[in-house]
Amino acid sequence: MSKISIIGAGHVGATTAFITAQKCLAEEIVLVDIVEGLPQGKGLDMFESGPVQGFSGRVRGTNDYEDIAGSSIVVMTAGIARKPGMSREDLLRTNASIVANAASHIKESCKDAIVIVVTNPLDMMTFHMWKQLGFPTERVVGQAGCLDTARYRTFIGEKLGVSSKDVSAILMGGHGDTMVPLPRYTTVAGIPLTDLMSTEDIEAIVKRARTGGGEIVSLLKTGSAYYAPAAATVEMVESIVMNQKRVLCCSCLLQGEFGWNDLYIGVPCILGKKGVEKIIELKLTPEEKALFDESAGKYKTGIEEMLAL
Ligand code: LAC
Repeated sequence: MSKISIIGAGHVGATTAFITAQKCLAEEIVLVDIVEGLPQGKGLDMFESGPVQGFSGRVRGTNDYEDIAGSSIVVMTAGIARKPGMSREDLLRTNASIVANAASHIKESCKDAIVIVVTNPLDMMTFHMWKQLGFPTERVVGQAGCLDTARYRTFIGEKLGVSSKDVSAILMGGHGDTMVPLPRYTTVAGIPLTDLMSTEDIEAIVKRARTGGGEIVSLLKTGSAYYAPAAATVEMVESIVMNQKRVLCCSCLLQGEFGWNDLYIGVPCILGKKGVEKIIELKLTPEEKALFDESAGKYKTGIEEMLAL
């Protein structure tokens, strides 16, 4: 039986479970959370929407990590968001321990699973999950580029008055603020974006996509985005489950690619049934490489800080 588990029944985890069910990507979807009743309630509620929505997969909530046994994919969304007065180190320490706890259960219950990390700070938590699991690097991957790219494609579609579905793009680097735009690799139905939009408009869109997470936080005031993050996560799940081998930007472990070692950061990769099947080392201009190096340097320092905590 095909089974996908999602750890964390907050907004991102629950929405990921819901879209996964709607797309019929697994026979069983397990939603795990430590809060009693929360995953059970949300899971049952989703399951009851099946007859209307036309899916028959079972969605089940639980507080017991043993229920993830046999999952082919585990999506890690659990973690806290930074609250007022909390330092970056506090956030890192708390989420690192949540990730380590999840890793110990994943190792025990589904040692062959592919693990997709969504917990922030994304690139660092993906590295941490990989270290704690000791899984091959192709089976531990982070979701961020798919979200940043979705935001970028939305704004381009809106500005040009075309379907965002026809906007094809790859963005690299860390999630959000240090994301590396690649407008020369962005097309609208194959037409280079640079032929359709002014440099100023492209720059404004890049800036908005970079700070897209913050834009939602400032609107919501009490939380962060979840519809687009969940949809972006399911894009990865689907590519793995259906072995689509899509070229998506994901946080992957670099081992010499782009001149970097031992850090997770957003790069284009092929995602299929084995997980990250290949990192695509596309050619960067000196300007693009400088931006990528700046982003990678930041995360390398972040990882060192996390390891020293
Ligand atoms: C965002 C957060 C969730 O970009 O990382 O919306």
